[in-house]
Amino acid sequence: MIEISLQENTVKLTNTYTNEAEVVLDLGVKHNNYTTLSSQRLYQEYTSMINNYEVIKKYTYGETTLLDIVAITSLVFNELMNGKHTNIRALEVGSWFGCSSYFFANSLKTFSENNILFCMDTWNGSPDTMSHSIANYENAFEHFKSVMRYAGVYENIKPIVCDSTIGMDILQENFFDIIFVDANHTYDYVYQDIIKGIKKIKVGGLLIGHDCECYADELPPHLLHGDNKHLDGIEGYHTGVIKALDDIFGRDYSRFNASLVWYKRITQEDKDMIVQLEKKSSISYQRTDELVKAIKDSIQFIYNSSLDEKTETTQILLTDLVQVAQELENTMAEISGKINNKSIKLKANLLKSALIDYQITYENDFPQALMVLESSVIESFNDFWKCYSELDGSRVE
Ligand SMILES: C[S@@+](CC[C@H](N)C(=O)[O-])C[C@H]1O[C@@H](n2cnc3c(N)ncnc32)[C@H](O)[C@@H]1O
Repeated sequence: MIEISLQENTVKLTNTYTNEAEVVLDLGVKHNNYTTLSSQRLYQEYTSMINNYEVIKKYTYGETTLLDIVAITSLVFNELMNGKHTNIRALEVGSWFGCSSYFFANSLKTFSENNILFCMDTWNGSPDTMSHSIANYENAFEHFKSVMRYAGVYENIKPIVCDSTIGMDILQENFFDIIFVDANHTYDYVYQDIIKGIKKIKVGGLLIGHDCECYADELPPHLLHGDNKHLDGIEGYHTGVIKALDDIFGRDYSRFNASLVWYKRITQEDKDMIVQLEKKSSISYQRTDELVKAIKDSIQFIYNSSLDEKTETTQILLTDLVQVAQELENTMAEISGKINNKSIKLKANLLKSALIDYQITYENDFPQALMVLESSVIESFNDFWKCYSELDGSRVE
């Protein structure tokens, strides 16, 4: 169990089993806002906010624990104490009745009235969860707004009623200082929310998220596989969140003490990685797989048949082969353009000229055409195949 203690300008978390203690927020240290906000004032504000937890939890039917709220607010306080603390643009993806929204917005407000929290939610609840049934008979958005008014942070919040799959696309890139992701917890959604979050946050901004119980390599192995990641949660783990984080960052992100909160400072490298991921995922590997297989099968079939004479079947097969090869050449040229790979581009050009040579020779001299097919086209296919396999080995699914 983790014991939370607020004393002497600090917030301390103590593991009651091991007695290990960690000061997660020290409001007494000299900070950037020293001249505008005293440590004592910050401590008072923080304490009275945390003391509101039970009331806020009651009105929001909040499931976010006090430890998680301490994690989120400590991260936000630390961020604003040590860097820019006014004109902050923050985003919460997944607000529901506003439990985390209140603590997030109030932390921002403590430093400046002009800090804003954008809250994006459908307010329809997440599919296959209790919230979805509740949204059928309760106007969750009206409830959210009432709580925000009651808690005194309504003026600091800008709601965006939208599905994040669309909403995240229309937001400006490199706009936010802090983003907190806590919407749909199944893999495809949370993966996209994080990827888009990286694009929308500024370099140096803090990306935070909820519901990460452990790193992927600490998950019970049977939960890592199969369709588990597509569930909202299983056996106490949010496998979708854990797997998405692992696929995007590996272990290169942090978990806040024993809470379910994860965080990552976004770098230019993270943004570059997203650009590469997007280029790769837009390539149709499945189609290329099919083309390569069709060519290999056709060549095999032709060589297994009698090549002495220009039979009708051989002609049809050869025509098909050329068509498939042309399609492959187009696909590879497209791939080389997308990932800017000169070697593949060269191979695409080689195949193109080999195909032209083949067609010219085929009309005049069939045996010679077969030789060209063998020496040039197959050779080019093999080069292609090698390059394609290398590329394929590094692909991200
Ligand atoms: C776990 S709750 C958020 C809890 C909130 N952060 C708190 O601490 O009280 C998840 C929220 O995400 C919203 N949500 C689910 N899928 C969404 C989507 N695709 N786009 C936007 N919001 C979504 C649901 O309506 C729900 O309000």
